Amino acid sequence: MPISLPDSLEKFSEEKKEIDREAELTPKQIVAELDKYIVGQKEAKKAVAIALRNRFRRRKLPPELADEIAPKNILMIGPTGVGKTEISRRLAKLTSSPFLKVEASKFTEVGYVGRDVESMIRDLMNLAVEMVKSEKLEEVREKAERNVEEKILDILLPPPRRRLNDVLSKEEYERFQQTREKLRKQLREGLLDDRKIEIEVKESAIPPLEIYSGSGMEEIGIQIQEIIPGFFGKRTKRRRVKIKEAWDYLLEDEQKKLIDMEEVVRLARQRVEQSGIIFLDEIDKIAGRESGHGPDVSREGVQRDLLPIIEGTTVNTKYGIVRTDHILFIGAGAFHVSKPSDLIPELQGRFPIRVELKPLGKEDFIRILVEPENALIKQYKALLQTEGIEVDFTPDAIEEIAEIAEKVNEEMENIGARRLHTIMEKVMEDISFEAPDLPEKKIVIDRKYVREKLQDILKDQDLQKFIL
Ligand SMILES: Nc1ncnc2c1ncn2[C@@H]1O[C@H](COP(=O)(O)OP(=O)(O)OP(=O)(O)O)[C@@H](O)[C@H]1O
Ligand SMILES: [Mg+2]
Repeated sequence: MPISLPDSLEKFSEEKKEIDREAELTPKQIVAELDKYIVGQKEAKKAVAIALRNRFRRRKLPPELADEIAPKNILMIGPTGVGKTEISRRLAKLTSSPFLKVEASKFTEVGYVGRDVESMIRDLMNLAVEMVKSEKLEEVREKAERNVEEKILDILLPPPRRRLNDVLSKEEYERFQQTREKLRKQLREGLLDDRKIEIEVKESAIPPLEIYSGSGMEEIGIQIQEIIPGFFGKRTKRRRVKIKEAWDYLLEDEQKKLIDMEEVVRLARQRVEQSGIIFLDEIDKIAGRESGHGPDVSREGVQRDLLPIIEGTTVNTKYGIVRTDHILFIGAGAFHVSKPSDLIPELQGRFPIRVELKPLGKEDFIRILVEPENALIKQYKALLQTEGIEVDFTPDAIEEIAEIAEKVNEEMENIGARRLHTIMEKVMEDISFEAPDLPEKKIVIDRKYVREKLQDILKDQDLQKFIL
């Protein structure tokens, strides 16, 4: 007889699993992962790595103590194009915590048309539910596959008992079993993929109504569907489809049946509350509190709306109430027009950790061009390789590109590493255009080539403004 765990123990093992899940990366490992994509900016990387780890540490404490420890929110300050958003994007991929990136500037004060700040908690919760759901779907996959196989076999060869109403003889039963196993083998080998069978499919539901307006209204569409489920999308009809398609459909259906949505929601909420991270990009755009009229009023309003959420409050979501006390907030902004001190004081106080990202120079650009796993040079090489063309950059070509980027950044506006994109595009323009017709399949780009491609533009300030 299988031994079942008492409820509390089972819960305990779930919790432990959750902690183990988070334990994956140490701060050093996080930094090392970020290093693969972002050059320099050690301080910022270190700060986010520590913050992530601290949440994991907190969860191992006894609840009374853990409750007291508030996350230390981070403010990343640095000029445009130096990696703020990039760090957060990479972080999101690394951590198994629910992670949401939002632009602070897109919120409006409650009562005005636009998105209210609470919507970010709802979005985070939706995201966490999807995340846990897909994990659970994966967990039940094998079992679901077994069930689907039986189902399809039942359709191909209906069990005899259902066909004739009387008891089968032993031989009849064995014969049936043999045929079934033969079919199973063919099914597994894909021999029956194109055979058609009839299955019940749910008629696709009406696309969810989405209403974007004031607070929480976007949830309405979904709620209507939940209130009157019979009305939307529960009807089924019979369709003849190839086994291959039927398999995918039935599998999805079966997986959904096997997971417990209530548990999914419970785990998702726990994840959001205990390890959720919200990255508030462009937070400098809501700074400014010169009282008066126009956008400033609304900006300060958004800041005031943000306060309770960052401090810890409850937000109503379609999956129930979510507490925000332990959600980690990472704010980021260039702050070249406004300063962090232009944020309302209460908000400043809620971002105790400040890290500055450094402006980038020639040496950084050289590294950014070649080192990251998604480095621009690698991208261009890969793109052209699809046309059978092998491009090589000599070190002095790369140095030249980096130098020009630095120079243009100084002379015009400093847009950081984004400058490399515009310059590279210009350098590669002709090759990209002519690639399919080029007789020469091996191209070496050196300093001379780079200069040739850019010299006309570099001579002309006006041209620079438009092109680089
Ligand atoms: N330190 C860096 N290492 C590697 N790539 C970088 C670095 N900084 C910026 N980049 C590249 O430059 C581009 C812009 O960077 P990112 O989006 O992070 O800028 P940002 O700091 O968020 O700027 P903004 O203040 O304008 O939002 C990205 O494509 C990114 O890959
Ligand atoms: Mg950014």
